[in-house]
Amino acid sequence: LLGRLTPAGFLARHRQKRPLLVRRAFPDFQDPVTPEELTGLACARGVESRLVLVRGGRRPWQVEEGPQDARRLRRLPPTHWTLLVQGVDTHFPAVAALRDAFAFLPSWRLDDVMVSFAVPFGTVGPHIDSYDVFLLQGLGRRRWQIDPHAPEDYRPGLDLRVLRRFRPRAEWVLEPGDLLYLPPGVAHHGVALTDCLTYSIGFRAPSLAEVLGGFVERLLAGADPNRLYSDPDLRPVRHAGEITPRAVARLRLMVAREWSRLSGAAFDRFVGELLTARKEPAPSRRRGIARGIPRKRLVNATAVVRHPASRLAFLRRSGTCLLFADGRAFDLPRPLAFAAPLLAGRRRIEAEELRLHAARPGFLDLLAVLVRAGVFTIAGRGGAASRAGG
Ligand code: SIN
Ligand code: CO
Repeated sequence: LLGRLTPAGFLARHRQKRPLLVRRAFPDFQDPVTPEELTGLACARGVESRLVLVRGGRRPWQVEEGPQDARRLRRLPPTHWTLLVQGVDTHFPAVAALRDAFAFLPSWRLDDVMVSFAVPFGTVGPHIDSYDVFLLQGLGRRRWQIDPHAPEDYRPGLDLRVLRRFRPRAEWVLEPGDLLYLPPGVAHHGVALTDCLTYSIGFRAPSLAEVLGGFVERLLAGADPNRLYSDPDLRPVRHAGEITPRAVARLRLMVAREWSRLSGAAFDRFVGELLTARKEPAPSRRRGIARGIPRKRLVNATAVVRHPASRLAFLRRSGTCLLFADGRAFDLPRPLAFAAPLLAGRRRIEAEELRLHAARPGFLDLLAVLVRAGVFTIAGRGGAASRAGG
């Protein structure tokens, strides 16, 4: 994937430092999605997409948010537009599988796979992103230019952030399977030379506001609403208008006690739940499944398959493990701790492996809960993956 670089070399020399171009990072690359499938997805409700008309709109780089209209898409001119679809990995398992190539990075740091389909001269214009990204070229050819010195100054009055000044310092034409890594802050400009598909494997980083906000929300939810400030030792004050240092210290202690109640192990749990929260709601569960998944169905499955939108991660504790799936935490005792890296690391667990672990205490029960929650689906004998109970 990284050419002659090892993952360690890439992290030391390029990640969040300088761009990297890898020719044939995916040799003989086959697109996991077709332009027709992508445009179809962009027309579905709940799918985030943007149609960018470089020309032909009321203003340059006009943006039309999804859901897109299939008839309108069919009638677009042959040049100067691009369609960008967010989170394609959550809909197409084959697109989600692209993420596996980046398994040397923590999966919670990868955001989603955005896919763009562009016709010749299709582009979102020169811009700067605040997150780093791997741009993988699929179908067709796209010319990328970068300007690491471009000032972050955007043209006014446009739907998109298009840089006012962009002087390309390097350029490459990417072909199927080529990969361009861009650190945050490097101005880039990609223009389609032919009909083309580009896969952006983007990173995510929680902001301080998000983490702090989530943590405080949790503190509030757990705080005893009946606990009030109290001062039975109060003595007559000299200035009725003064908030004394003693009162301030007491208030500070009141908050600090709550804060420490949720640090340590509780913070671990909070972080795991936050980082694995699913973007979209879990698939609606059918009636009756809550009664349970028969163990027999799991033992006889040909495989269990992770839902492409599911997020899993785990956190080790001395001997035991905390497994997180779509924002829910599961305490795995020592004998079950082995299951955490297995479940969080794989898209598909085959029958042999299921049977190998079936006798281990709690394994099938845990799997059944995850199937019920829509995190995994059971692939039955001779059939495609089926939803729990379906
Ligand atoms: C694109 O695929 O056209 C845009 C990707 C990017 O510049 O971030
Ligand atoms: Co960009």
